[in-house]
Amino acid sequence: MHTIVLATQKGGSGKSTLAIGLALAAQQAGHNVRLIETDKQGTLSNWQSRRGLVEPIVETVYDAGKIERRLQALERGGVTLSIIDTGAGINAATTAAIRYGDLCLIPTRPSVADIEATAQTVSVARAWRKPFAFILNQTPIRGGNRVNDATTALDEDAPRDIAEVLAKPFIMMRNDHQDALAAGLGVSEFAPSGKSAEEIRCLWHWVEARLTGDAAVTEESASVTEFPIMLIPAPADKTEPARALITWADSNVSWDACL
Ligand SMILES: Nc1ncnc2c1ncn2[C@@H]1O[C@H](COP(=O)(O)OP(=O)(O)O)[C@@H](O)[C@H]1O
Ligand SMILES: [Mg+2]
Repeated sequence: MHTIVLATQKGGSGKSTLAIGLALAAQQAGHNVRLIETDKQGTLSNWQSRRGLVEPIVETVYDAGKIERRLQALERGGVTLSIIDTGAGINAATTAAIRYGDLCLIPTRPSVADIEATAQTVSVARAWRKPFAFILNQTPIRGGNRVNDATTALDEDAPRDIAEVLAKPFIMMRNDHQDALAAGLGVSEFAPSGKSAEEIRCLWHWVEARLTGDAAVTEESASVTEFPIMLIPAPADKTEPARALITWADSNVSWDACL
C-alpha cells in the first residue's frame, strides 16, 4: 500500500479537492482507495454524505497516535492507496500523517504568499526525511503564458531536482472542481472528458510514478519542466548567477519572486 498526504498550512489551497480528485482518478485506474480525514472541518465527510456511494470510503482519524496503526490495518485489509487529507496549520495529526506516509503533496496557489506559507510543511517532511512535491493548484487559465514566459532560466542541473519536487501538470482554476465537490463526485466523474479531469488523471500518473520510483516519467518531465515561480536567494555578489533554490525551508535567505 502507498500512502500520500495532502498537507500545507494554508487553508483553501486545494488539499481536500485534490485528495478527492486523486482518489477518484486512482480508483478509476484500479486502486482500492481509502480516504482518511484528519481535518475536523469535515470537507471529505460532507462530500461523502452528498455522494451517497460507499466507495471510496472516507474515514476520520483525528488522533495522531492512531494513524500509524490504522495505516497498517488498511494495508492488511487490501487497500492499495491511502490518501490523507489534513487540516490547515501544522498539528500533531498532520505531522504524524507526514511521518507515516510515503509522499507529502503540498498544494499551493501560484502566488508568493502561498508558496512562502508552505515552508513549515516542507520542514516537517524534511525532518522525517519524507519525499515531498508541490502541486501548483488554481493556476489562472489566461495567466498560463504569463506564468511560463516569466520562467527564469535554471542552471544546468536544476531541472532534474525541480522535476522531482514540482508535480506535473499544474492544476488550473476551473469550475469543474467546485461543481464536482458540491455534487459529491470526483472531477473525473463529474466531467470525464473535461480538461480538469484530464489534468487530475495526469497528476495521478505523475504521483504514481513518484511513488513507484518510475524514473522514466520524472526524466521525461525533467526535460520540459519549467518552474513558473522562481524563488531565488538574492545573490550577495550581483555578478554571480542566481541559482534556483528548492530548499526554501531553510529560511535565512531573502526571496525574490518573479511571476
Ligand atoms: N483547481 C481548482 N479550480 C477551482 N476551484 C478550486 C480548485 N482547487 C480548489 N478549488 C476550490 O477552492 C476551495 C478550497 O479548496 P479546498 O480543497 O477546500 O482547500 P483546503 O482543503 O486546502 O482548505 C474549494 O471551494 C474548492 O472547490
Ligand atoms: Mg480541506
